[in-house]
Amino acid sequence: MLKVSQQDWTVMRDADNIAWLTFDKQDAHANILDSAALEELLVVMQSLEKDPVPSGLVIQSGKKNGFIAGADIQQFKNVETPEAALKIIRQGQTVFNYLAALPFPTVALIQGFCVGGGLELSLACRYRVAVDHPKTKLGLPEVMLGIHPGWGGSVRLPRLIGGVKAMDLILSGRSLSAQAAYKMGLVDAAVPERQGQVAARYFVQKQPAQHTATFVEKLSNAAWMRPIVGKWLERKLTERVNRAHYPAPYSALQHWVEHGVDTDAAFAQEAQSVIQLMPNETAQNLVRVFYLQEKLKSLGRAQDDKIEHLHVIGAGVMGGDIAAWCALKGVRVTLQDQNTAAIASALNRALQLFKKQLKAPHLVKAAMDRLMPDVKGFGIRTADLILEAIIEKPEAKKALFLMLEATAKPDAIFATNTSTIPLKEISDHSKTRRRLIGLHFFNPVAKMPLVEVIASEDSDHALAQKCMAFVRAIDKLPIPVKSAPGFLVNRILMPYLLESAWLLEAGVPGEAIDKAALAFGMPMGPVELSDTVGLDVCLYAAESLNHFFPVSIPNTLRQHVEKGHLGKKTGQGFYRYQKSGKPLRTAVAKEYRVPEDVSDRLILSMLNGAVTCLREHVVADADYVDAGMILGAGFPPFRGGPIHYISEQGAPLLVQRLKLLAQRYGDRFLPDPGWNDLKL
Ligand code: NAI
Repeated sequence: MLKVSQQDWTVMRDADNIAWLTFDKQDAHANILDSAALEELLVVMQSLEKDPVPSGLVIQSGKKNGFIAGADIQQFKNVETPEAALKIIRQGQTVFNYLAALPFPTVALIQGFCVGGGLELSLACRYRVAVDHPKTKLGLPEVMLGIHPGWGGSVRLPRLIGGVKAMDLILSGRSLSAQAAYKMGLVDAAVPERQGQVAARYFVQKQPAQHTATFVEKLSNAAWMRPIVGKWLERKLTERVNRAHYPAPYSALQHWVEHGVDTDAAFAQEAQSVIQLMPNETAQNLVRVFYLQEKLKSLGRAQDDKIEHLHVIGAGVMGGDIAAWCALKGVRVTLQDQNTAAIASALNRALQLFKKQLKAPHLVKAAMDRLMPDVKGFGIRTADLILEAIIEKPEAKKALFLMLEATAKPDAIFATNTSTIPLKEISDHSKTRRRLIGLHFFNPVAKMPLVEVIASEDSDHALAQKCMAFVRAIDKLPIPVKSAPGFLVNRILMPYLLESAWLLEAGVPGEAIDKAALAFGMPMGPVELSDTVGLDVCLYAAESLNHFFPVSIPNTLRQHVEKGHLGKKTGQGFYRYQKSGKPLRTAVAKEYRVPEDVSDRLILSMLNGAVTCLREHVVADADYVDAGMILGAGFPPFRGGPIHYISEQGAPLLVQRLKLLAQRYGDRFLPDPGWNDLKL
């Protein structure tokens, strides 16, 4: 074997004269295509073309975790002009066009993630072989960064699998398993790991006909058909994505409709489309969100001393779902509840989750085996981590921890999923306080990525750190939070939810309130969100917070709870609900004039809370406030988070508006003193 090594790329020629090109980005955890890696790839390909020309080229990854994670997003940061963006786009297009034109067969051997620029590289190869493994994921998630594929993907993908399927992937940014990618025609084979290289060799040596789109798929790309299909896709897109907030998928669709897949001009136009998007505020803020997530990920680096056994007490909405999630992610879990029916129901939900996520029956069975019902609480003695998710009553939690202190392993970590109560209210015992950490998951557990990791001044720092690693190990994002009432997310979200109830009390229709929040970019309006959380839960949380600082609770909230109108779960809350769980909305009367300060009342309540948290050092810095609110409360990602939004709008202007609201509606709007010290 002849070996030629560059920084990131290594070529080995085997006895059959196949060039095996391995990408192993130096000093990086994952393979990313930065400018240097692209430049080197071009040099490698140029040298391959010289004598002796190989019989074929297989591109593979030297990293265990995946093939290629895409472009270097660092490059997108602070791109201020289309010209600056063009440099990035042009380089990728040039290199991939070169790859596509190589005069010998080329194969991408894909294992693990193959996303963004990584998938675009593989699309420029003649063949793609994917290793059929749960970690293999193929996708074009560029819209999540406010752009669309720009290295040829917007042209090559619809060419390969037709416009409809390609647009589904590009507009949603979703990723596919190896099998799903094979069914879609995106890869030529999905094979077991041990057969990856054998399959790649087969494609080089046999050179079977390349995959092409079917007749119907080709039809969707026809010039006369694209506008028709495009209209239909646009209608579907409008149902889920607000064009004003997230323009990228609309640009991707428009590019395909206008330029199709057949000409070189389509590539040039793809570049033009992307470079308009990259410098704009949405894309820059989404890149910021990407880095906020990376920051949280880096907090939970794996440790040798792992949590292997989790014991959960309380198998209700939260405890049951946390137990299931952790078992799904490979942790051995014992689940305890005083009510056996709660455990049975939690196991049932767990089975549904495992079936949906794991599909293969043997994997589902293995996950079910990891989740053990434990009515008597035998798991307490052996667990590394004991998490309580019982009712939100300090006395109940206190009694529980007293019992745990006497029974658990001396080095077990105690955790609470309390949503509002500071840790010191839950235990008087100094030994317990040292090992008590808040692990606050959000509802619904399977969907919400964030977990607040709460430490008090008594908590052992090393244990908090171990909990962060645990949160990462179960594929969630940890955010370190001080033990303060309501912690970070609920502290900020609660005034916003309560304000929506104040608005209702003042006679503003729920539909108008929710509309204002959606227009700002929130994923769900606060009235519907209150109903979803449960009005009793909202009231209870508001009253808990009221023990620590004044919280104004509108009467309408109490009245609904007294009447048993608790929200979605009872079919009636602020809204009435259909069986499907959808609210029955009444159209707002035409002559009704929505007060012009509805949006301000909602959003400024949140911003004021965000400033309070920053001033009180509930989290270490503004990035954490932003990350927490985006990932835990759905604050619009395209706005970059509440503190970032304040810096873009200008604090003095917002303070003025808060003062005006305070004059109109009372002290709850008085600007927090922290506004004066904001360093933006
Ligand atoms: P839930 O009422 O659905 O479940 C509580 C479960 O704990 C019940 O099954 C009950 O039988 C069991 N339980 C009560 N006392 C017990 C004891 N001493 N020993 C064993 N089992 C006991 O409550 P949910 O909503 O799951 O809340 C649990 C905790 O999670 C609370 O602290 C709540 O504040 C917090 N939380 C709730 C969220 C939500 O959206 N529901 C979100 C985040 C946190």
